[in-house]
Amino acid sequence: MRMDVRAPIFPFHMTTPTAARSARPAPRVTQALVGDGWRATGRTFDVRDPWDGSLVAQVTDANEQDARDAADHAVAAFERWSRTSAWERSAILRRWFDAILTHEGELAELMAREMGKPVTEARGEVKYAAGFVEFYAEEAKRIHGETIPSQFAHKRLHTNLKPVGPVYAITPWNFPAAMVTRKVAPALAAGCTVILKPAEATPLSALRLAELWLAAGGPAGTLQVLPCLDPIPVSQVLIHDPRIRKLTFTGSTEVGMRLYAQGATTMKRLSLELGGHAPFIVCADADVDAAVTQVVASKFRNAGQTCVCANRIYVHADIHDAFVARFLLAVQGLRVGDPLDPATQIGPLVNGEALAKVEEHVADARSGGARVLAGGASPGGSSYAPTVLTGVRGGMKILEEETFGPVAPIMAYTDEAEVIRAANNVPVGLAAYVWTRDLGRAYRMAESLAYGIVGINDGVPATPQAPFGGVKNSGLGREGGHWGLHEFLDVQYVSTVIG
Ligand code: SIN
Repeated sequence: MRMDVRAPIFPFHMTTPTAARSARPAPRVTQALVGDGWRATGRTFDVRDPWDGSLVAQVTDANEQDARDAADHAVAAFERWSRTSAWERSAILRRWFDAILTHEGELAELMAREMGKPVTEARGEVKYAAGFVEFYAEEAKRIHGETIPSQFAHKRLHTNLKPVGPVYAITPWNFPAAMVTRKVAPALAAGCTVILKPAEATPLSALRLAELWLAAGGPAGTLQVLPCLDPIPVSQVLIHDPRIRKLTFTGSTEVGMRLYAQGATTMKRLSLELGGHAPFIVCADADVDAAVTQVVASKFRNAGQTCVCANRIYVHADIHDAFVARFLLAVQGLRVGDPLDPATQIGPLVNGEALAKVEEHVADARSGGARVLAGGASPGGSSYAPTVLTGVRGGMKILEEETFGPVAPIMAYTDEAEVIRAANNVPVGLAAYVWTRDLGRAYRMAESLAYGIVGINDGVPATPQAPFGGVKNSGLGREGGHWGLHEFLDVQYVSTVIG
């Protein structure tokens, strides 16, 4: 018989808005970066702090003319940058890496203010972001072609790797620094120039990173930033410009599919890192305490707002009750509050729309008979209490759409084949997790999961040197590691008759 695990609805620690808020310096840069200059267009849009709604900055709203100018600069700068030596590019990237780490605290606070990531977690993101720059500073020196044996004595065959050309990069709000460097660092290392359009909620981290790139010696036009409230006009200019050779996007599957179609008109190279719906499978032989720690890390990091957060937690029936009891205790200990308070573990959701989606998923699960063991409501603002649900069943929205919030639906399973089928029964395939001490089962399950990333006893597998990306509707291509660099390189084959 199942243990009856009941809990008060808001047992976690919560700080009140304004409790930990202190005066913060204004962001340094709020204008667009076009060519080598900071540019105001006369129009601005507001960036608001999701914790208390206060105005963080008024940011220049870039328009189609800025996009056309940026494209001209990106093309001109590409002529020079693509001809620099790998050593030169590597040295500038290395200085950018140092500068990012030197400004870790400032960047973390900026991120906490623009999207609500708890500042302690944001410091981790700054290190993660810098890690991509460090890795690609090193990798720049390892871009090399191959020689191919010929069947003819008079011929020599080889390949060159060439930068694809100017790149248009669109980055999301959930990792305002790391998703910028994960795209921009390999592009710059390869010899490409980049026009970056950061998410409208989080332009400030991107602008500051670009300022640090210039300070590190990054040449004018190699990295330009076009913040804008409505991404469509700027994106249309750049997607339909045949001189822009590559489009790289992180965001929703719906937008990714539209960009895929539009990119075809100029035959762009594409990288699309889209949505996920990650299953986390805890097998009967799992170390329950360790599994609980990792599920909490996977589910609640960034308040559940990552593409790889656990969305569906399948626990073997033999350990289900023990797991739920310990999981509940861990979740109740999470500290919700002001992102600028270093003790906060769960900040607010990015905006009211994000909150509404989480509320809708929980209400739908409740009306279908799910039990709310913790959380289940907003304690104020756009925050949402870390929530644990049991009694979740097929057909509920939470099992079909990405919740992007701090809600953990737990289900019991009994059969390995059945749980693999359930895990794979979604149109997306970004990340999946398995918790087991049986090596054979670990291999078997990893190979059966239709996902681009599998964490075995690891709830947070992403790291700069490894490939990140999905299958099916989760996108195309990979970021990170040498795979992420090759997304920005074309292969040129050269055949030489030596006479
Ligand atoms: C994402 O949500 O797309 C990024 C997650 C990560 O890099 O860990």
